[in-house]
Amino acid sequence: MSRFKLSLIKKALLGAIVGAVLIGVARALAFPPVFQRMFFIYAMLGVVVFVLLDAPGLKPLSGMKALVALVGFYALLSAAYIGGASLLPQYDPEDEKGKIDKLLKAKREKAGHELQNLDELMKQAEALDKKAQELAARLNRLAPASTPEAATLAAPKPAAGGMSLLARGKEVYELHECYNCHKIGGKGSVKKRGPVLDNIGNLLTIEDFKKKTFDPTYLYAEGFEKEHKKGVMPGKYRDLMSEEELDALAAYLSTLKNPSVETPKPVFVKTKVEHGFIVYGYVRDRSGKPIPGAEVLAKPMKADAHASSTKTNPQGYYEIFLHLHNEDNGTKITVSSGAAQKVVVANYDPNDKVSKRQAAVDLIV
Ligand code: HEC
Repeated sequence: MSRFKLSLIKKALLGAIVGAVLIGVARALAFPPVFQRMFFIYAMLGVVVFVLLDAPGLKPLSGMKALVALVGFYALLSAAYIGGASLLPQYDPEDEKGKIDKLLKAKREKAGHELQNLDELMKQAEALDKKAQELAARLNRLAPASTPEAATLAAPKPAAGGMSLLARGKEVYELHECYNCHKIGGKGSVKKRGPVLDNIGNLLTIEDFKKKTFDPTYLYAEGFEKEHKKGVMPGKYRDLMSEEELDALAAYLSTLKNPSVETPKPVFVKTKVEHGFIVYGYVRDRSGKPIPGAEVLAKPMKADAHASSTKTNPQGYYEIFLHLHNEDNGTKITVSSGAAQKVVVANYDPNDKVSKRQAAVDLIV
């Protein structure tokens, strides 16, 4: 075997080994297969270069022959390049786009499905809301003196964007981020910054909700005295909320009537003169002796008022705080204990925010 042939085989072998090592390393480094193949091809090209270096010299060419040989060599090299390159996997933008589309299609279909589900849920919610409103309207017709909440439900004002009043109220609750401190249906404030509101509709009236939202000092939730004193619930809503928003929010809160969730009782701030009216006095028997432990009931004669009651102390004295506001001036209040009953009129100057609003009512049983 000629020396040339021997070195050719040796170099081809060496090239193959280098190529194999390159593939191994590329694979270990997680190069895509096309790169692994390219590295092998580079090794082979190296072999060709080294082989050419060793090749016996050609006879010097000149004239036409030299030109033909040059062009021929160029054509050969080009063919090898083009042919070789076309053997490698090709990048086709349309092809890639197709692949990406396919991936996205699956995702889009999934998202579309979810959207459709959401749509159906929204429709269901709307239908339920409508049903509830119809029921409330029927209830209202059957018992016209029912709660003011039912009345609001029965005549939902068309709120912004044709949304129902309650949906709008819920939106206002979300928009103003009440959930940062309050929980409804287990959702909201994780740190228990404020009271749970699940049953608050049974504890407060629409009027109360409006007042509490615009003036957090108006009342406080039992067990949250410290937070109340610190002023945790912000007073900014008076500046941030429109009347329309406040109406919707109050209507929504008044529908939260889930007695199975313990909701802190509201305590009306008595030091605020505008918020209440106090009836006080003694309960005595006919001989003038004070009666301790006697039950006393006071009820303002107005639509949404609740009766409040207390028991006389050992001196026969009682004090009842009633929830009356500026606009309730002139309201009659019945005060009773056992068979004894008296009516007083709550008279005060709505502009006077300092003098205590109260009336003395002594009862003889
Ligand atoms: C930064 C916390 C915080 C935010 C925000 C907040 N609140 Fe409060 N809220 C409280 C705290 C604390 C209390 C209990 C103390 C008090 O009543 O002042 C409370 C009490 C209440 C109560 C009385 C509950 C009861 O059981 O008597 C109502 C109703 C209420 N908030 C409604 C709202 C509404 C509506 C919003 C949104 C517009 C809101 N809150 C935003 C902290 C907050």
